[in-house]
Amino acid sequence: MSVVNKYEDKQHTLEESFKGKDFLTIADFSSEEILYLLDEALDMKQKQKQGIPHPYLQGKTLGMIFEKASTRTRISFEVGMLQLGGNAIFLSSKDLQLGRGESISDTAKVMSRYLDGIMIRTFAHETVEELAEHADIPIINGLTDSHHPAQILADLLTILEHKGKLKALKLCYLGDGNNNVVHSLIEGSAKVGMDIAIASPAGYEPNSSIVESAKLVAASQGSTISVSNDPIEAIKDADVVVTDVWASMGQESEQEKRMKILQPFQVNSNLCKLAKDDFIFLHCLPAHREEEVTSEIIDGKHSVVFDEAENRLHAQKALLKVLMKD
Ligand code: CP
Ligand code: NVA
Repeated sequence: MSVVNKYEDKQHTLEESFKGKDFLTIADFSSEEILYLLDEALDMKQKQKQGIPHPYLQGKTLGMIFEKASTRTRISFEVGMLQLGGNAIFLSSKDLQLGRGESISDTAKVMSRYLDGIMIRTFAHETVEELAEHADIPIINGLTDSHHPAQILADLLTILEHKGKLKALKLCYLGDGNNNVVHSLIEGSAKVGMDIAIASPAGYEPNSSIVESAKLVAASQGSTISVSNDPIEAIKDADVVVTDVWASMGQESEQEKRMKILQPFQVNSNLCKLAKDDFIFLHCLPAHREEEVTSEIIDGKHSVVFDEAENRLHAQKALLKVLMKD
């Protein structure tokens, strides 16, 4: 499967366009670049499954700064670097001088002298922007409060594998509409021409400037973005149904309040009856069963959440290769 055959003559230009770039949001990349990354990810997956060596990053080291917990992101980036012939260093912000007040700019300059790339998971999106501004090496966003672009590469790859295409599909997202996953999903859907319908309670809608910018991209790709408070309308005829936790990392104190407000947006078999018969269900994980999604759905036949988790590895290896390869 390839999504970029028609761009093959542009392969070299696209490869060059990634060199030394940061990966902070999906919006920073063109539609062609996103499709190119997905194609590279399919190639990475095939090579790994067939045992074909692919040491594109021999001798390279990725630093991985974590200010929040992680299972998938940490493991998939670390294993990805090892499979590419390089190394990864786990850096907890608690153990770094950053955690004791060393400035982001000094940290960026120092790390640039040792490393070939930095993946960072943090709170404020401005932190990764500041790191990128002062570092001489690629910075990869491994999740901030407002974006989770690496997740969305894996999601698009999973949808492509299961549906054979991305354009003209309808993706429905139900739940907390104002989080990192939704924002990157909006940007990603727009880039690949997939319709996206988001339904969340009033006050939990996505960031309006992200939506407005993405709408311009979607229009150029012939797709739509709709934001509403109506889960029934949003899920109608959906090919892909997605949700995420109701309280993201850093919002734990709001958990109880959110449980009540978000209940009508739970992904359950009642609502899913309105989706297409062959819909697939995605969740970035970790999931809270019987909150944002019932066990029946996440453990049922429509769920592809473990393919999605696996695809973090393949999509990120593609990303690491294009950003860090000489
Ligand atoms: N989906 C995701 O980013 O998982 P982790 O929080 O486990 O890294
Ligand atoms: N929205 C979730 C995603 C976790 C991978 C969070 O930020 O906690």
